[in-house]
Amino acid sequence: MKKVFLVPLMLFVALFTTIACSEDNPVTDDPGQTLPGGGEESEEPEEPGNVEGGNSRYLVLYCSRTGNTAQMAQTIQSALDCDMIEVVPETPYDEDYNSMLERAQSELAAIGQGSYPAITTSVDSFEDYDMVFVGYPIWYGSMATPMQTFLHNHAELLSGKRIALFASSGSSGISSSVREAQELVPDAVFTEALHLTSGTLGDMSDRISAWLEQLGANR
Ligand SMILES: Cc1cc2nc3c(=O)[nH]c(=O)nc-3n(C[C@H](O)[C@H](O)[C@H](O)COP(=O)(O)O)c2cc1C
Repeated sequence: MKKVFLVPLMLFVALFTTIACSEDNPVTDDPGQTLPGGGEESEEPEEPGNVEGGNSRYLVLYCSRTGNTAQMAQTIQSALDCDMIEVVPETPYDEDYNSMLERAQSELAAIGQGSYPAITTSVDSFEDYDMVFVGYPIWYGSMATPMQTFLHNHAELLSGKRIALFASSGSSGISSSVREAQELVPDAVFTEALHLTSGTLGDMSDRISAWLEQLGANR
């Protein structure tokens, strides 16, 4: 009799222990479970690089492989509370640095021949925006290729718009890429640009505040 009673009891203990353990150790790699800021679970999480802001006068566009330009874009976005869109290459960035260098060289050479690498990002209209912020990393002294494609594809829509360029690099300057932007969108009005290098990225917050003030951009 005792044995007959013990079996269901052991089964109950095993089941209870399993449930208790799984509650202590929730699955952490489920994307729907770990939302920044502790928001509600959503079935379709937003693209992380895209933000809808309350201030409709500005738009921040950026591309970024390792996050430096993305951080600049986020700082501008949160200072202005405006919309932000990440420009994404159709072929994801190479994780291997040397492969990325080779790819960037061949994409830049192709652009020189008038052939632009595909991107998955497009914008229907910039009409509502007073100013469009355009951010990119410097690749071989040039504007990173996804942003060159974006400007090429949207040149007409951006005509007459105020464009504020911002860029990050190891140490190279921004001037060649400013010229590229002016050639890609000849009818835009370019403001003073902002450029941070690995030596000045640490001053990002102050440099961006001063730049936005200089441009007269505010919430
Ligand atoms: C393909 C490639 C080419 C680069 N070329 C340059 C360059 O010519 N001059 C420079 O100072 N930094 C160069 N860099 C470094 C990046 O510009 C720098 O790390 C930048 O902050 C990266 O921005 P991200 O983190 O937004 O991708 C290059 C990086 C890559 C991946």
